[in-house]
Amino acid sequence: MYSERFTKLTPYVPGEQPQDRSYIKLNTNENPYAPAPGVAEVLQAYDAETLRRYPDPNAEALCHLIADTHGLKREQVMVGNGSDEILSFVFFAFFDSARGPLLFPEHTYSFYPVYCDYYNIAYKKVPLNEDYSINIDGYVREKSCGLIIPNPNAPTGILLSLDSVTSLMERWPEDRVVVVDEAYVDFGGESAVSLIDRFPNLLVVRTFSKSYSLAGSRLGWAMGHADLIQALYAVKDSFNSYPVDTVTQKVGMAAMADRAWFDQTRGRVMVERERVSKALTALGWRVLPSAANFVFAGAPALDGKAVYEGLKAKGVLVRFFNKEGLTPFVRITIGTAEENTALLEAVASL
Ligand SMILES: Cc1ncc(COP(=O)(O)O)c(C=O)c1O
Repeated sequence: MYSERFTKLTPYVPGEQPQDRSYIKLNTNENPYAPAPGVAEVLQAYDAETLRRYPDPNAEALCHLIADTHGLKREQVMVGNGSDEILSFVFFAFFDSARGPLLFPEHTYSFYPVYCDYYNIAYKKVPLNEDYSINIDGYVREKSCGLIIPNPNAPTGILLSLDSVTSLMERWPEDRVVVVDEAYVDFGGESAVSLIDRFPNLLVVRTFSKSYSLAGSRLGWAMGHADLIQALYAVKDSFNSYPVDTVTQKVGMAAMADRAWFDQTRGRVMVERERVSKALTALGWRVLPSAANFVFAGAPALDGKAVYEGLKAKGVLVRFFNKEGLTPFVRITIGTAEENTALLEAVASL
C-alpha cells in the first residue's frame, strides 16, 4: 500500500502544543507579543468575497516590500509557506550528494536531516567548538555539495559574526550554495543579506514567525542572487503554485511595514533575554550567550529532562532535546516580563 520512499520517512517532531491545561508556553520560540496593529486591521477589514479567487501566485506586492525593506531588487526575493517550505525548496534545488554530502552543524535545527532524508541527500554534521559555537574552519576543510547554518544557531542561540560569515564565503567554492538560515537574526544578529551582491552563491532564509509574531500565518522568504531565486520558483511551481494565501500576503505586508512595532517588540525581547540570562546565571545555571529569542541553559544539579519535567509540573513549558551533548540543557523561549518572572520563580523552587 505504501511507497518504499514513504516507509523510510522520519518526520520532524515539532514542540508540543498541549491542550490539557494552560501553560506558560516557552517551548516553541514564538513571539510573546501580538503582531503589529495593522495586522488586526487587515483581518477586521477583510472582504471574505475575495477568497473565491486564487491568490497572486508569486505575492508580487509582498516581495516588492521585502526587497525595498532590505535594499534588494524584486528578483532577489521569494516568499513561501513558512521558512520550512522555503528550506524544502532549497534542499531540492541546490543540494545533491553526488557532489559530496551537505554540511551543517552537529547541533542545529532538526529539520535539516529530515529534509536530507526526504530528498535522499547524504549529510555530514560538523562538530561545534567546545563552547558550542560554530567552527568555520571545520566547514571549509570538507568536500561537500553545500552548507546550511542557522545564524544565530538553534538551539544554542549563539551568533556567528558577519565577519566570520564573510570569511567563510571568501573561502567557499563558488559553485556550491551556502544557506544562512536567519530565523532569529532580528534579536541581535547582523544579517548576511549585505553580502548577497558580492556572493552569488549565498542564500539568506528568513521568517515572519519570530520577530514579526506571525508563526500562525506561515510565511517565510528567501533572498539571494536572481538565478538562485529563479531556481526556487521553478521548484515551487513544480509543487504548489500558490503556497502563500491571499490573507497571509496582506498580513505579512502589514507586519513588515510597521518598523516601529518591529523594533519595539524585538527590543523588549532582547532586554528580557538579558534579564533572564543574568537571573539564571545568578542561580548557578550555565547560560550560553544568546542572540536569539530564547536561551539554552543548564541547571547546576539537574539534567535537562528533570528541569523540563519539574517546570512542566509547575505549569511552565520549555523544550528538552534528548540528544547526546544537549541533555544538560533546556531551551527557554523568552516570554513577556510576567511570564519570565513566573519562569524564574518556578526555576528557583525546582
Ligand atoms: C532555525 C530555524 N529555521 C527555520 C524555522 C522554521 O520557521 P517557520 O517555518 O515558522 O518560518 C525554525 C523554527 O523554529 C528555526 O528554528
